[in-house]
Amino acid sequence: FAAVDVIAKKRDGHELTEEEINWTIDAYTKGEVVDEQMSALAMAIFLKGMNREEIKAWTAAMLASGKRLDFSSLSKPTADKHSTGGVGDKITLPLGPLVAAFGVAVPQLSGRGLGHTGGTLDKLEAIPGWRANLSNDEIFQLLDHGPGAVVCAAGADLAPADRKLYALRDTTATVATIPLIASSIMSKKIAEGTAALVLDVKVGSGAFMKEESQAKELAQTMVDLGADFGVKTTALLTDMNTPLGLTVGNALEVRESLEVLAGGGPADVVDLTVRLAEEMIQAAGKDASGVRAALQDGRAMDKWREMILAQGGEVDAPLPVARHTEQVQASESGTIVSMDALQVGLAAWRLGAGRERQSDSVQAGAGVEIHAKPGEQITAGSPLFTLHTDTPEKFEAALAELSAAVKISAGPVEGGIVAAGTEL
Ligand code: URA
Repeated sequence: FAAVDVIAKKRDGHELTEEEINWTIDAYTKGEVVDEQMSALAMAIFLKGMNREEIKAWTAAMLASGKRLDFSSLSKPTADKHSTGGVGDKITLPLGPLVAAFGVAVPQLSGRGLGHTGGTLDKLEAIPGWRANLSNDEIFQLLDHGPGAVVCAAGADLAPADRKLYALRDTTATVATIPLIASSIMSKKIAEGTAALVLDVKVGSGAFMKEESQAKELAQTMVDLGADFGVKTTALLTDMNTPLGLTVGNALEVRESLEVLAGGGPADVVDLTVRLAEEMIQAAGKDASGVRAALQDGRAMDKWREMILAQGGEVDAPLPVARHTEQVQASESGTIVSMDALQVGLAAWRLGAGRERQSDSVQAGAGVEIHAKPGEQITAGSPLFTLHTDTPEKFEAALAELSAAVKISAGPVEGGIVAAGTEL
């Protein structure tokens, strides 16, 4: 095969064969198909799409580019959750220990944030000493004999083709397309070795999928891929027009997760955590009654402490705080009708919570604290947001992102308000 022929075939709207796909991914992993060729192919796929057979072959090839972990010899069943990415989505933090408290092993191989969406590893790294890189043996040990929940970086040997391709897509405007998202997520999750997988597919302004119909198609594609590769996969569609919870940013989101693990925290975060935990525990074949109680009575918090300590985290150390803050006030009185997740995510990113290039570091303390959410009454001059950063020169850019993020209505609100994380 020649890369240029494969690109031209997709450019002209034709179906790629399994052989062509296998060859392309293999050659790309080895560096024989170069980045500019893969970029062109990704754009052709973005514009022309792929059918189910092509997506399956593409996923299989990405999976075959690396190792596949196998937890079948563990003494417990495994289940994992994957979110397609959102703003303020810290659910993995309370969820892993909560599910582990029910005797289910949770091998959460996670990523870092890029652009306006946060990454679980960046959040946990706000905890002094916490270590994201574990060997496959360590993961196995922690699942079988340790806390039973592990959040760590995917090793370089899991779906290496995706690692390269994802970085390329991010810089070539080829992220938001179903074949590439579905194969990217599922190749990593299948390689991770979980037996059951619950997908939280986000819909709305802060998600890759802005429309419910697209999100449904993405969810169905991933559920089908799970079935193809023997991973029991289910999916929820949840709202991401509004940020989840009251914090966006790394240490800020850890703080809020601790509130949830202590039996408090914002209702949208608690409700989605409980819903996903029940789904995972059931998928693993265990009894899911009493999930909410496990947040109240400290069982989930005990697991959290074990999990953080096991990865070197100083579980009682104070979390980092940003050096500078600035408050944003409501300009009018009334009911908050909407709060745009994308704009709040971009503001947090500008403040230093996210990165522009993969090699950038993030500020642990940076982000946006939210004081009132859609559905709440607010009076002019009362606080809406507190911005946190170590680089105060970024306040202006963050304020610009937030300038149109909140809609306030003086009169009655028609049609009701959907809370962040609501199942659609
Ligand atoms: N998350 C991934 O891992 N891959 C994508 O393509 C999109 C979100």
